[in-house]
Amino acid sequence: MVKIELTGDGGDKDMRVPFPAKGRKRDDILAEMRGMKAGDADWQHGRTPLYVFKATQEAYDMGRDAFFEFFTENALGAKRAFTSVKRMEDEVVQGALDLLHAPDDAGGFMTTGGTESIIQAVQTCRDWSRARRRDAAHRGNIVVSESAHPAFNKAANLMDLQVRRIPTAPDLRADVAAMEAAIDRDTIMLVGSAPSFPHGVIDPIAALGAVAQRRDVWLHVDACVGGYVAPFVKELGYDVPDFDLGVAGVSSLSADLHKFGFCPKPASTVFYASADKARHHGFEFTDWPNGRFATSTIVGTRPAGGVAAAWAMFQHLGRPGYRDIAARLMAMVDRYKEGVERVPGLKVCGKPHLSIVAFGADTVDVFRVSEVMAAKGWVPGLVQKPRAIHRMMSLIHADSMDEYLDDLRAAVGVVRQEVGSTAKIQATY
Ligand SMILES: Cc1ncc(COP(=O)(O)O)c(C=O)c1O
Repeated sequence: MVKIELTGDGGDKDMRVPFPAKGRKRDDILAEMRGMKAGDADWQHGRTPLYVFKATQEAYDMGRDAFFEFFTENALGAKRAFTSVKRMEDEVVQGALDLLHAPDDAGGFMTTGGTESIIQAVQTCRDWSRARRRDAAHRGNIVVSESAHPAFNKAANLMDLQVRRIPTAPDLRADVAAMEAAIDRDTIMLVGSAPSFPHGVIDPIAALGAVAQRRDVWLHVDACVGGYVAPFVKELGYDVPDFDLGVAGVSSLSADLHKFGFCPKPASTVFYASADKARHHGFEFTDWPNGRFATSTIVGTRPAGGVAAAWAMFQHLGRPGYRDIAARLMAMVDRYKEGVERVPGLKVCGKPHLSIVAFGADTVDVFRVSEVMAAKGWVPGLVQKPRAIHRMMSLIHADSMDEYLDDLRAAVGVVRQEVGSTAKIQATY
């Protein structure tokens, strides 16, 4: 059996730590925790290629304060006990529907992350498809580009669906014709990404929408990364293809607040283009002693802080604030791409639309370059196809940009001089 290393698996079984025999002072505990952090990657200075997102310090403080204002409340009780949380959740969803050009009949929900949004969109699509086909017995399949996030496989594993991963076109975007050719009578969903995680390119959503309409299948747009930044990048005049709920043929869309919405974790959203589809989202059960149990998330209890902070962030930044951050972000990305390509031999993969950029090289092994960079504290971000160095950047990467590019140039120089060294590192998300 494959041994999978999982966070939270309890660690090394030979080094069991006993349950604390007595309590300790708060200050000692906090000091120990801060000490533990000393060994972590220095995300504040852009050393992590993913995991952490930040806009301005002011926005960060707003999110943190709003989160702790609702630290104790439970969003599970939003309808019955915490009307404040219900109002904020509704307003986040409505604001996002407006931003994403949703039809009047559209609906949406907050969730705790991109994976949960995707799992729920797949479940909603499956149940909608079953209701229409009236043959619940068939095993549905989902046609995705190979660059789609593994969350679609996770969803399919949970629901016993099949995933068909189709190689990308030469420009690293979804190959629409090949995806259409993979559709059969059991296909329930097509997926496009805006943008894809590996290459940062926005798939041709309008063309996928046309296929979805012609072949009568559901199109999900995974805008977990781009949902809350691409609209503003587009407004600034950058080349951003249409990708949102205004595109004909799009049935659902996931967009993460805790990525480029710059909201504290956990917070994401999932939307449906019509009420007829949205009504299959959610879970309801009454056949137990406590009566009606209805939730719109996979999890039950969930932090109201995530809802409150997302609401506060929309209020704080508004359209001008998000546009301003998008402008600063894209200026930084342009500087990054230029800096990378100024290093002889390095080339950006495809034409990334937002702030995920991958670059490769023909004459040096970039995995080996990444190992040399890792020794200087830059946590590796790698793509295995094509072999590339990968970063999903926010404004935390701005201040250390020159240092990164200097270290990159030096690392490429080191690797060019090496004889017989081969990279041991593997691409790991
Ligand atoms: C394109 C895309 N979709 C979905 C996800 C999953 O999001 P989460 O980690 O919030 O579950 C990610 C995460 O990076 C992503 O890049």
